[in-house]
Amino acid sequence: MKRKIIISPSMLACDFGKAAQQMQKTESAGSEYIHLDVMDGHFVPNISFGAPVIKSLRRYSSQVFDVHLMISHPLRYIDDFADAGADLITFHIESDSPVEETIEKIRSKGIKVCLSLKPATPAEAVFPYLDKLDMVLVMTVEPGFGGQKFMSEMTDKIKLIKEEIDKRSLDTDIQVDGGINEETIKLAAGAGANVFVAGSAVFKATDTAAIIAELKKNAGEAYLNVYTHRS
Ligand code: DX5
Ligand code: ZN
Repeated sequence: MKRKIIISPSMLACDFGKAAQQMQKTESAGSEYIHLDVMDGHFVPNISFGAPVIKSLRRYSSQVFDVHLMISHPLRYIDDFADAGADLITFHIESDSPVEETIEKIRSKGIKVCLSLKPATPAEAVFPYLDKLDMVLVMTVEPGFGGQKFMSEMTDKIKLIKEEIDKRSLDTDIQVDGGINEETIKLAAGAGANVFVAGSAVFKATDTAAIIAELKKNAGEAYLNVYTHRS
């Protein structure tokens, strides 16, 4: 089944001194989501920002707030991120929180739920939860830092998850995160991803509207290429 192509610029790559303006620039440039990477220095080696920063950004944008929790105990903080204005919360299957309970907690807040897999975690790990999710995030770098190289071997994992989603006739999105640019987006979209996080590619570009348009175009073409001959 075909899905809408969505670009989610990652604020990790922005100039935080001008965060609100930079976020608004991506919105007027045509992106639907804004990706907010929360890191605790424990689940990943880096520390970024938490709920108070997200809450203060909230009033400057009506984009979907796509909050990616790279933290060891996501369940403990769902209330905080819900209150901060998250529209979608992603947590990691490798975290220390019980998966089902965390999914239910996020759902009880009226927030969309996404489960993420680190590169070493196999596709099948997410299958037991697939029916309960709005989105699956396939990490295409080791989480923790922006500006890393896209791991092209992750395309097999994307394909396996996409096949399972289609087999069960679900309308689950597949998001990819890490090293996405004008070229790598084609590989991810070709494999079946339709939501694309892009940090460096968007914020290091001189023309924000042009890069977002190009990412969307390349993803749309690659996605169609794979799925027209299959159906
Ligand atoms: C990495 C983060 C990403 C990161 C992506 O752990 O989850 O969202 O910001 O950055 P780029 O697009 O530069 O790889
Ligand atoms: Zn992320």
